[in-house]
Amino acid sequence: MSDSRLPDYLLKYYRWAYIAPMALRFWDHEGLVDLILFHQYRRLRDLARTALRQGPGGDLLQIACVYGSLSACLVDDLAPAARLHVVDVVPEQLRHLAAKLPAHAAVLHRNDSRYLAFADASFARVLIFFLLHEQPAAVRLATLREALRVLRHGGRLVIVDFHRPRRWHPLRPLQWLIFHLFEPFARDLWVQELIPLLRQIDPSLRIEQELICAGLYQRLIIDKP
Ligand SMILES: C[S@@+](CC[C@H](N)C(=O)[O-])C[C@H]1O[C@@H](n2cnc3c(N)ncnc32)[C@H](O)[C@@H]1O
Repeated sequence: MSDSRLPDYLLKYYRWAYIAPMALRFWDHEGLVDLILFHQYRRLRDLARTALRQGPGGDLLQIACVYGSLSACLVDDLAPAARLHVVDVVPEQLRHLAAKLPAHAAVLHRNDSRYLAFADASFARVLIFFLLHEQPAAVRLATLREALRVLRHGGRLVIVDFHRPRRWHPLRPLQWLIFHLFEPFARDLWVQELIPLLRQIDPSLRIEQELICAGLYQRLIIDKP
């Protein structure tokens, strides 16, 4: 970590997306996020919501802020006594998100996904939405370890992120180019499935993978026995 307590990879590769003063105002438009995901944002958001709604009740942890309406939708889906907790390592991301959420239903924490400041088994449900492809391999593994550590037994972790598209996929060359130019760790998810990483951390997990848009994206539903 640098002096500013931000991870080096974020400062080096993602300043333009999450840290620069203009970044939040520029990127946080649902239409733009939807365009970047080839018009699949709402579908992917709703796949995450459905998997979480079908999971156990209780507090929900979202690891890292997301542009667009995802967090507000998660709040709408909460049972009356439950709350949404969101962690992010960039304070400005949290301030920006706070303005979009009702204060009584959401708790925001400045925290690095590698070292979550929660006790073991604190949450019934955890969501990681398009964070892992932005992280170097060692950070990705640490994030998964932490997500599973803070998940209680009987709880559910939901991951939505990129995946290797089929060879003939018409968007494959464009997606490859975008990764090559802007997202240096994202292609890891094309060559390394997340399931073996999760099993390496906890072989007893029940994992269901759904591929979306001919493999361009994936949703993982992970139940911790
Ligand atoms: C969830 S990811 C990508 C989401 C997606 N591109 C979007 O916003 O639509 C972006 C967030 O992850 C946060 N982030 C990146 N590395 C992190 C880490 N190690 N711990 C906590 N938050 C992190 C960034 O600050 C940013 O707010």
